[in-house]
Amino acid sequence: MALSLFALAIFLFLNLDADFSSTPVSAASEGVQISYGSAIKLMHERTKFRLHSHDVPYGSGSGQQSVTGFPGVDDANSYWIVRSVLDSPAKQGDAIKAGSIIRLQHMRTRRWLHSHLHASPISGNLEVSCFGDDNNSDTGDYWKLEIEGNGKTWRQDQRIRLRHVDTAGYLHSHDKKYTRIAGGQQEVCGVREKRPDNVWLAAEGVYLPVTTESK
Ligand SMILES: *[C@@H]1O[C@H](CO)[C@@H](O)[C@H](O)[C@H]1NC(C)=O
Repeated sequence: MALSLFALAIFLFLNLDADFSSTPVSAASEGVQISYGSAIKLMHERTKFRLHSHDVPYGSGSGQQSVTGFPGVDDANSYWIVRSVLDSPAKQGDAIKAGSIIRLQHMRTRRWLHSHLHASPISGNLEVSCFGDDNNSDTGDYWKLEIEGNGKTWRQDQRIRLRHVDTAGYLHSHDKKYTRIAGGQQEVCGVREKRPDNVWLAAEGVYLPVTTESK
């Protein structure tokens, strides 16, 4: 009962579009299951940078909202809400099975982590942007969850890859930095080859308790 009230509170909290920067954020312990509706940060394993976006367009390629790797841990623009895809029966609080197709919604701007055939600004790989809104999403926002090892459902201590469905590019980052953005942010892009630099981990976040084990 206490747990479900907590889940409800978090649910309302997320749906009120609360400002997480002024709110204590629970640091989940190791092995916590990640469920739909959770707001998480994704850490690039090798560089420790967080997947980040803000309301600044790319100056090249699609001109859509930019996505970068951010060196700091505390920035509220690094929260992403884990969503199911449009035709999925999955509900908020459901566990997420390996191989699921998911979407990541940038919490501050409500846009979706997106990719397509435009060239990324620095390395000329596939551009990764933020696009759409609460009512506008398409398969360009679909990512397949690949869990390293033999985990059946997504847990916080697992190394994961996200593979973009339309382009088959893995979500990737590397040391290539933007010189005109303050704070040493680095490029995030898609690459089709399976490389060590495609590995991410769920880091800080508000983890909704899993209410339904995956079927
Ligand atoms: C999405 O649709 C709802 C219901 O029609 C509307 O209230 C809301 O303003 C829309 N949001 C955006 C971002 O367009």
